[in-house]
Amino acid sequence: MGFLLFSGTANLALAGAIADSAGIPLGRAEIETFPDGELHVTVAESVRGRDVYLLQPTPAPAERHIFELLLLADACRRGGAERVTGVLPYVGYARQDRRTAPGEAPAARVMADVLATGRFHRLVAIDLHSAALEGFFPIPLEHLSAVPVLVQALRERGVRPGVVVAPDLGAAKLAERYAGLLELPVAIVHKTRLSGAEVRVRQISGAVRGLAPLIVDDMISTGGTISAAVAALRDAGSESEIIVAATHALLVGPARERLAQASLASLFVTDSVLGGRVPGLPLHCVSVAPLLAQVLTRLHDDTPLEGFSITD
Ligand code: R5P
Repeated sequence: MGFLLFSGTANLALAGAIADSAGIPLGRAEIETFPDGELHVTVAESVRGRDVYLLQPTPAPAERHIFELLLLADACRRGGAERVTGVLPYVGYARQDRRTAPGEAPAARVMADVLATGRFHRLVAIDLHSAALEGFFPIPLEHLSAVPVLVQALRERGVRPGVVVAPDLGAAKLAERYAGLLELPVAIVHKTRLSGAEVRVRQISGAVRGLAPLIVDDMISTGGTISAAVAALRDAGSESEIIVAATHALLVGPARERLAQASLASLFVTDSVLGGRVPGLPLHCVSVAPLLAQVLTRLHDDTPLEGFSITD
């Protein structure tokens, strides 16, 4: 018997695309909000003895999305599911993985603890903010990468960059992954974060003059990091055709305006959070549905994830 896939409300379009790609119907779940704001979740079909996957990325409002996921998991457990796996293509709060000042809470750790209360058999995530986050979770986590999917999309569009650029030190490993597949050198922009929405560039390590840069990041939130990197690259004499690839397109606050002002040649993102078009941006939204459909099928069949999992 095949696996069952249910979805929270965070990205129903992606859930539908995964179900289509896996050749299964999307499971029926009802998620409503009572007049007092409380959530009410019903899994509307039998899960007894089944291998169940629950899709729910957790962008804002992360608290609601997480609680929906926990209620879905509980409903499946009580319904007799044999295995319940949480599939979080984007994990919110992941950037708050350490205390940077006294009095702060390392929210990523708290998030991992909260998710563990769902008693999932395992979790699946794509391009976590850092690989070290995996260790925060007391349950198995399959850490996938969208980099091969995005590189494939770049190739199909005939995009030929000359250097892969990490827009901060934290993105260096990610940049190496792109560079390995594209057989390109890496340059690193050294940035200082001034606030949640403002960053400043200090310097660039590596050659960029005369080269077409591909800036890569795990996520774009306010667009501050990308727009600062674009300005620094142009000042450093890179080619003016700048391409950006990022897995998670949150695009909050001033992001759309900043990215439009950056005059990018193209912006490649996935549908981990965002679906569809964004007017005014040269956006190519690449679906992670086929990747997730293949991974869930392999997990269901208990076959290795070689080539899919970052940690394999
Ligand atoms: C930071 O370390 C992340 O990898 C991203 O570079 C950052 O969070 C993006 O945020 P924003 O778009 O607001 O600069």
